[in-house]
Amino acid sequence: MTFLSNLQWRFATKNFDTSKKVSSADMHTILEAIRFAPTAYGLQLFKVYHIQNPELRLQLREKGFNQPQFTDASDLLVFVARNDAMSRIEEMLHTLSGGDAGARTAMKGYEDMMKGDLGRYSDTELMTYGSRHAYLAFGFGLAACAELQIDSCPMEGFDSAAFDQILGLPASEHAYGALTIGYRAAEPAQPKFRFSEENIVSVKA
Ligand SMILES: Cc1cc2nc3c(=O)[nH]c(=O)nc-3n(C[C@H](O)[C@H](O)[C@H](O)COP(=O)(O)O)c2cc1C
Repeated sequence: MTFLSNLQWRFATKNFDTSKKVSSADMHTILEAIRFAPTAYGLQLFKVYHIQNPELRLQLREKGFNQPQFTDASDLLVFVARNDAMSRIEEMLHTLSGGDAGARTAMKGYEDMMKGDLGRYSDTELMTYGSRHAYLAFGFGLAACAELQIDSCPMEGFDSAAFDQILGLPASEHAYGALTIGYRAAEPAQPKFRFSEENIVSVKA
C-alpha cells in the first residue's frame, strides 16, 4: 500500500467496532506523528488530550451531538489550541538552552523575533494562531492513522466551550478538534468524493 492508496482507503468512520482496541504501540506512533508536525517557530502552541476515562467520554459525546464515535472508538484525542505564547516561548528557550545562560543569550535574536511578532496579537488572535498549529498536528495524526491502516474520524461537531469545561481546561486553552481512532464496523456507505485536481490546484506558470 502506498501513502496515497492509504489516503483513499481511509474514510471518516461513523461506526467503530467496539470490540477492537488499537495497540499502545500504534497509539504511540500516531502520537509521535502528531508531535513531529511542524509549527510556526516550532512553538507547538497546542496540546492533545488522550481521553481514557469512559465517563468523560460519555459526557463529551453528550456535547458532541451524541455522535457514537466519541464513546465507541478505541481511542479519543482532543486537540486543543493554547494562547499563552509568551510563556511558551520562555519554556521553549529554557528547554533548548538546557538552562545554560550563554546558550540562552545566543538565542536572543530568535527570542526577540518571536516576541516581537507574537506580541502584536490579542489573546483571541493568539488562540486562532494556536489553532492552526493544532489543526496541522490533527492532520498529521489523521494521515498517520491511514498509514497504519487504522480507522479514524476527524470531528469538530461538538460544543467546544462545553468540551473546555468538561476537560477542565485553563483559560489559555480551547478545544478545536477531536480525532476518534479505532477499527471500522462497516465499510463506508458512500463512495469517496473529492473535487478534481484542476478544481483545487490553480497553476500560475
Ligand atoms: C475538521 C473536520 C471536522 C469534521 N467533523 C465531523 C464530525 O463532527 N462528525 C463526522 O461524522 N464527521 C466529521 N468530519 C468528517 C468529514 O465529513 C469527512 O472527512 C469528509 O466528508 C470527507 O470524507 P472522508 O473523510 O470519508 O474522505 C469532519 C472532518 C474534518 C476534517
